[in-house]
Parts: sequence; structure tokens; C-alpha cells
Amino acid sequence: MASATNWSNSNPFSLLTLLLLLSPLFHSTTASNPTDPTPTPWPHQFHSILFMNRTGNLQVVDLWYDWPNGRNFNIIQAQLGKLKYDLEWNNGTSYIYTLDSDKECRVLHFEVGILRPDWLDGANYLGQRYMDGFLCNVWEKVDFIWYYEDVETKRPVYWEFYTGFKGHVMTFEVGKVLEDSQWQAPVYCFKKAEEEKTYLFQSMADLVPSGGDLVRGPINTSLQL
Ligand SMILES: *[C@@H]1O[C@H](CO)[C@@H](O)[C@H](O)[C@H]1NC(C)=O
Ligand SMILES: *[C@@H]1O[C@H](CO)[C@@H](O)[C@H](O)[C@H]1NC(C)=O
Ligand SMILES: *[C@@H]1O[C@H](CO)[C@@H](O)[C@H](O)[C@H]1NC(C)=O
Repeated sequence: MASATNWSNSNPFSLLTLLLLLSPLFHSTTASNPTDPTPTPWPHQFHSILFMNRTGNLQVVDLWYDWPNGRNFNIIQAQLGKLKYDLEWNNGTSYIYTLDSDKECRVLHFEVGILRPDWLDGANYLGQRYMDGFLCNVWEKVDFIWYYEDVETKRPVYWEFYTGFKGHVMTFEVGKVLEDSQWQAPVYCFKKAEEEKTYLFQSMADLVPSGGDLVRGPINTSLQL
């Protein structure tokens, strides 16, 4: 499994999902103004091409969100680098693999599934700002993500994680679904013994924006890892 690839960072959304689950434990909700706009829920199925910038490392991500089928796919092309597949199931299993001769695959088990379509509910409204030339409503959620949505079309335009990892939404095709045959991890993903049982946890303390200790207690008991 020697690999220079930083698998753990491949999808901050997985961590976000856990944070959203835990957020009542350590994040006091700010009283929001009832007249504030609310984020549009994600369509239950869509395809999006994202231009991602992880502090200077550029990626193009093909995102296939498929809530009714309980699955989410990120196909990640690093600039002049590897093509990586990050296939996530709502039962918490993720397959992260390449399809090149290296035949790399990691199977991760998260305690949470994919993002719910209404995951932005309760986000704090921050007002309107221009992003990439679009006038956007902006929200912040659990000090982890800042989310920009086009005022006019209600489509997402941009998001940024607290780490500085930024995503620009290049296409947003509502209702577009990747065919079933494409949602199949390669056979070498199924050969290895299970690994990384408690994967998410090892990095939690570093990733939680504040109060790692606050989070650690409840996790041990409530999620039994
Ligand atoms: C990527 O982000 C860095 C800051 O983290 C910035 O300096 C750089 O210009 C960005 N590159 C592109 C192509 O947007
Ligand atoms: C979750 O679902 C996927 C796809 O059906 C399957 O490959 C995986 O083994 C399942 N994981 C668990 C823990 O049941
Ligand atoms: C949480 O669980 C880990 C691993 O079982 C253990 O090392 C740690 O001391 C526990 N932390 C608390 C606060 O109980």
C-alpha cells in the first residue's frame, strides 16, 4: 500500500457528513433571521464537473450524486497526474482506486453514508457576494464549508472547505445518472482483508475545526469505534 497519494484527503465531503451528524455536540447554532434565504437542497440525482484547487494542486472532478440509489462517485483527475476513482455507498463503504497498472485500491468504512440532499439545512446565511462573476447567496456550515449559490438560478457556483480546498462548479446537470455498470469497483478491491476500520477517526482530531477533545468523548460512546 506504499503510495504517495494522500487518500485521506480525497473527499472532504465524507468528513463533512460526519461533522454534520455530530454538529449538535459542539456547534451552537446561531439564531438565523427568518427572512434569510435558505440553500436549495441538492437534486436527488445530478452530474457536475468541478474544477478543484487544493492550495495550488489542481483537479478536475466528475461528480455523480445519486441519492435514490444511495451512491456518490467522484472521478478525480489530478493535473498531469493520476486518475482516481472514489466510489461511495450510503452504507459507509467507500472504494478509492485507480484503473491503471498499479491496481491500487483502498476500502474505507465510514460511520456515515453520503451527504443527504438537505445537508445544507440550518447553514448560516452570510449575505450576497460575487463569485466567478455570478451574484451568489453565501452560507457557512459547521465552520467547515462555505457554499455559494447563484441568486438567479439557485445552482451551486462554488464552495470552499476550511482547509482552503476550493471547488468551482463548471457544469450542473440535474437528473443525469451514470449507468449502473459504471458503479463497479475493480476486482482487486475485493481481494484484500478489510482494513482501516476506524479510518475516519484517526484524523478527526486534526480535522475538527475546534474542540477536538469535545468531540472525542461522545464519539467513543455514541459511535462505538
Ligand atoms: C489555486 O489556489 C491558490 C491559493 O491557494 C492560488 O494562488 C492559485 O492562483 C489558484 N490557482 C488557480 C488556477 O485558480
Ligand atoms: C455497501 O454496499 C456496497 C455496494 O453494494 C458493497 O460492495 C459493500 O460491501 C457494502 N458494505 C457493507 C459494509 O455492507
Ligand atoms: C477513545 O477510544 C480510543 C480507542 O479505543 C482510546 O484510546 C481513547 O482513550 C478513548 N478516548 C476517550 C476520551 O475515552
